[in-house]
Amino acid sequence: MKQDLIAILDLGSEGNSRMARKVRDLGVYSEIYAHDITEQELRALPNLRGIIVNGGKNNIIDGQRIDAGPWVYGGPTPVLVIEHDTPRAEKHIAALPATDDELTAELNAFLFDRCRADKNWNMKNFIADQVESIRRQVGERKVLLALSGGVDSSVVAALLIKAVGEQLYCVHVNHGLMRKGESEQVVEVFRRQLKANLTFVDASERFLEKLAGVADPEEKRKIIGGEFIRVFEEEAAKLGKMDFLAQGTIYPDIAESGTKTAKGVKAHHNVGGLPDDLQFELVEPLKYLFKDEVRACGVELGLPDSMVYRQPFPGPGLGVRCLGAITKDRLHAVREADAIVREEFDRAGLAGQVWQYFAIVPDFRSTGVKDGQRSFEYPVILRAVNTVDAMTATVEELNWPLLHKITGRILAEVEGVNRVLYDISPKPPATIEWE
Ligand code: XMP
Repeated sequence: MKQDLIAILDLGSEGNSRMARKVRDLGVYSEIYAHDITEQELRALPNLRGIIVNGGKNNIIDGQRIDAGPWVYGGPTPVLVIEHDTPRAEKHIAALPATDDELTAELNAFLFDRCRADKNWNMKNFIADQVESIRRQVGERKVLLALSGGVDSSVVAALLIKAVGEQLYCVHVNHGLMRKGESEQVVEVFRRQLKANLTFVDASERFLEKLAGVADPEEKRKIIGGEFIRVFEEEAAKLGKMDFLAQGTIYPDIAESGTKTAKGVKAHHNVGGLPDDLQFELVEPLKYLFKDEVRACGVELGLPDSMVYRQPFPGPGLGVRCLGAITKDRLHAVREADAIVREEFDRAGLAGQVWQYFAIVPDFRSTGVKDGQRSFEYPVILRAVNTVDAMTATVEELNWPLLHKITGRILAEVEGVNRVLYDISPKPPATIEWE
């Protein structure tokens, strides 16, 4: 292993991720563990240099105060106790530093004076360590991956290709609800450039048939998710026996407990609803990375920026932006309009600056006039929002020239559309998507 490690023990703090981030930002790799990790488990961690006991307000479970095992405090590894009033701590107890600067100073002293840790956390070392541990885990066996083309699955694929090459079998299902050019990019990057074993399935017609006449948003999601699993399983079965399933689980999916469960790290099945009874062992090489670190990893592995910095895109894809019962004409309109929006955001230098920006086509029409004739066509709704955690969102204030440009292009280039609207509703009470 190339990287030193600082273990953060979760004693019910809501700030475990922030602490892990902070330690990494100072150049030392860190991971969060449950407070009741055993001595054996902890000592088995490679290159362990120090332990941070991260106390917090959720440190009471069933009336009992939780604490790390006594061996933590008396052991050979340096311990920093933060905001946790334990009778066992012999070393000093720091109150949670009030400012970021104070926390930085406290951590610097701990990491480099007491733990003598090396500043060796960087993407090159992370990739080298992961490649080594993936090879150890997988050996000569086969790994299956559902490659959606999203950031996480793309980075997992690139990492596994580097580690085990043709032992990785990628399956990309085009459910017909992808954005313009998206499936083509997956094929181009992974099959042509990275020489991956890639099965590409165009299941568009099959999904559209299943979705025909279904207007309820949750029903649409269920159909898309369920059908996705079926197609994926069918294709996987054709590839023969697989030993592992690779997943793009990332740290925010598993790290932050901040609850009285005090289970800092739990077994986690992150995947657009893959069933629990799949008989695979999991390979999850990104499970200790935060989102921006996943992107940095992708860049280091040579993936194109358009893949690594792409905006979030929902699993059910354009299906939840083609409102109500999906029809081919409106699906086509939303795909073309979305491509125009993305292109113009790119040109305006807003790609990567705005969290999410896209087009929606509702299932109602309005009167208009085209070529001197009455028309009765669909509107396109523009949406551009910013958020930190997707729980709340504010509207990006697009300037008029850009709105005019996008509107002009959509009205000229997208068939069946006669109006463009701009949604300026924050979340809440609206949501980011319309369905
Ligand atoms: P809402 O619309 O709930 O969206 O404000 C919050 C964020 O989640 C994305 N989203 C989804 N992602 N499957 C996904 O993988 C879904 O069914 C889904 N619905 C919404 C949305 O794009 C936004 O980033």
